[in-house]
Amino acid sequence: MSQLAVDPATGPATTRERVFSGIQPSGASHLGNYLGAQVNYVALQDQYDAIYGIVDLHAMTTVHDGEELRRLTRDMVLDLLAVGLDPDRCAIIRQSDFPEHSELMWIFDTVVPVSWLERNPTYKEGRAEGKENSNGLLTYPVLQAADIVIYKASRVPVGKDQAAHLELSREIVRAFNRRYGEIFPEPQAVYTDAPVVLGIDGARKMSKSAGNTIPIFAEPDEIHRLVMSMVTDPQRIKRSDPGRPEVCNVCQLHRFFGGDYLQIQDGERTARTGCVQTKQLLAERIVEFFRPMREKRARLAAEAGHVEEVLAAGAAQVRPILEATMAEVRAAVGIGRGPGTA
Ligand code: TYM
Repeated sequence: MSQLAVDPATGPATTRERVFSGIQPSGASHLGNYLGAQVNYVALQDQYDAIYGIVDLHAMTTVHDGEELRRLTRDMVLDLLAVGLDPDRCAIIRQSDFPEHSELMWIFDTVVPVSWLERNPTYKEGRAEGKENSNGLLTYPVLQAADIVIYKASRVPVGKDQAAHLELSREIVRAFNRRYGEIFPEPQAVYTDAPVVLGIDGARKMSKSAGNTIPIFAEPDEIHRLVMSMVTDPQRIKRSDPGRPEVCNVCQLHRFFGGDYLQIQDGERTARTGCVQTKQLLAERIVEFFRPMREKRARLAAEAGHVEEVLAAGAAQVRPILEATMAEVRAAVGIGRGPGTA
């Protein structure tokens, strides 16, 4: 039985709190996505009415080839199923299947001061580098707010890199509710215990756009190659130099792949072990950890039509929720025919 049992005539039939999170299909899922967010997507599907969106409209800000975007969107559905999302316990949707997300973004756009959006670091960086930012990049967090609250979701599992976006979503909700009445709950982030995961360069956030990721479903050889290329403690030059586990990204990642990470970190600190050895062990553990998921993903990928079936089932579950919200919003802001009109 689906957790999202909804009677279209009466709206949501459950009083459980709702979860929404979105992930961009802008490349393969990586360790940052998994440790920062996907772990919680899976954990929360049993405690909440959970909806997970593949946010292809957001990905249009960086993926500019239509065929590629469609392929990446399907790939992301497979990734989410492989990490443990179960379509019988949550809804997996494709954002672009619901133009209402963009409609609500526009409604929010009429409420949000531009200055709030200009604070967005991605937008500011673009400007500082002299890039011509698209309007889509500016209004990106407004679409994100719409994604969440169109389902009246109150919990949002995301990585800590999304803290500012979530705060902005809350501000947008407050501004809207002040103008039109208490329609939306303020969404709250739900974090894992992972920090913002750094990339193989050890310097910047692991991200598809920085090209510093370890894709979780890469072939074992590729994972080994990437882990072996990771930057460790830059001050540990010779094998006999003591290391600083707190600045070594390899040591930090060991925390998530074995209960003996304190010993591993101690080995680095005392120079009992070398970086090469520590990296080899990490690579083996990552490969083993994701092996069953990688195998499941390969099985699912071979089932023709499965991805579209999952998306159709997700769409059927969430449509009544979103239609109920939009009817309320359109009535409040005064667009459309209005309630009670013959
Ligand atoms: P995106 O697609 O960049 O990332 C998806 C999720 O993975 C987390 N994440 C990380 N966590 C820790 N360390 C990292 N290096 C790392 N990289 C990615 C992200 O925090 C995110 O939870 N704006 C969102 C997509 C979005 C969304 C939403 C999220 C659109 N609408 C509504 C929540 C609710 C983004 O770009 O995520």
